[in-house]
Amino acid sequence: MSNTIQSVRGMNDCLPDAADTWQAFEGIVRDWLRRYGYRELRTPILEHTGLFKRAIGEVTDIVEKEMYTFVDELNGESLTLRPEGTASSVRAVIQHNLLYDGGKRLFYIGPMFRHERPQRGRYRQFHQVGVEALGFAGPDTDAELIVMCADLWRTLGISPTLQLNTLGDYASRHRHRQKLVAYFEAHQDVLDEDSKRRLHSNPLRILDSKNPAMQALNDAAPKLMDELDDAARAHFDALQALLRANGIAYEINPRLVRGLDYYNRTVFEWVTDQLGAQGTVCAGGRYDGLIEQLGGKPAPAAGFAVGIERLLALMEAAGTPLASPVPSAYICHAGDAAVAFAGQGASALREAGLAAVLHCGGGSFKSQMKKADASRARYAVIIGDDEAVARQVTLKPLRSTAEQTRVELPLAIDYLKNTTT
Ligand code: HAM
Repeated sequence: MSNTIQSVRGMNDCLPDAADTWQAFEGIVRDWLRRYGYRELRTPILEHTGLFKRAIGEVTDIVEKEMYTFVDELNGESLTLRPEGTASSVRAVIQHNLLYDGGKRLFYIGPMFRHERPQRGRYRQFHQVGVEALGFAGPDTDAELIVMCADLWRTLGISPTLQLNTLGDYASRHRHRQKLVAYFEAHQDVLDEDSKRRLHSNPLRILDSKNPAMQALNDAAPKLMDELDDAARAHFDALQALLRANGIAYEINPRLVRGLDYYNRTVFEWVTDQLGAQGTVCAGGRYDGLIEQLGGKPAPAAGFAVGIERLLALMEAAGTPLASPVPSAYICHAGDAAVAFAGQGASALREAGLAAVLHCGGGSFKSQMKKADASRARYAVIIGDDEAVARQVTLKPLRSTAEQTRVELPLAIDYLKNTTT
């Protein structure tokens, strides 16, 4: 094994059993998004590095230390593997003038890349379902985003809890920031190294510190809630009223500030205590300034992203299985006449919409039956020269104790289509 090449640390293969689960999950998710009127946007995985620096913020963990950035040696451009999908979505919306006739509801599903320390629930290549509602200003949109999350959790049989906060608008954030800097400056002696570094660049992130020695200081820090202006407060109140009207429980967490700089007003996270340290399965909020900041005509926006690996882990913890498809039939055959009829039989089954695996590689019926069993197929369709001459097949149930029967091919197809066992 020592000289074999392994996958890159923190980047996982998705093997067929897992891929079945992912496909079933994506099917549910695509149907959910369709029902809410969201349409897919597919953007490149590589973008110009400047996009993420401008959108996410220079003084964020992602931009400072987690991006896979490299210089394209052919033309000297700095490129980055996307660490998230909001920046790319906004770039594409501006580039193609998608908001020319009003707001757009968009989604994306795909891999994101962050050079974090891998651990359970945290990977260097991970996957998100991202949902972005662009061009909508009201709290009804924030509510729609949260309501649709709750709807998905119900379908998936999981129950993460909702944490909610408002960051206010840019003016109130600015006022709060000044008060915060003054407060932390007065308590320099308690600040850890990370916080000292952030004091003038991004003081809000100090509140996010996981360092227990900083907790008391953070608890007593000036609250953004106290600086909210009337419009932001009304927005937050209206959102809460809509959540209550939809029967959605939430907890206001004034410490929720998020790790990306583009947010204003509403921010939220869906969290669980069932996954250890990486308990946030979905996160998002409003980012009314980002479109303008990236050079577009000013327009409000809000969205969220679900971490697929974490969500699937939560579903596993909750014991919600996702059905994985199995073939209806594994076709075993032996004899010169049988091989031709088996091929025709396989085609007929597939034309009828059934999944049929045609045995390849010869061998005895006994060894073929072992392969049939391993294929997870519901039935073995057995064809010897006898059956071939009579244009019949023997149907042998592989997952029940029912008797095998010998029937004409069209009858076998009807039977396989109409039985679920
Ligand atoms: P985020 O909080 O950075 O937000 O990521 C969203 C979700 O992606 C997290 O809650 C988590 O479930 C998952 N995630 C993040 N990093 C990792 C990782 N290293 N391994 C596994 N899962 C991870 C955003 O990305 C924003 N773009 C969300 C958004 C969309 N806001 C507005 N629109």
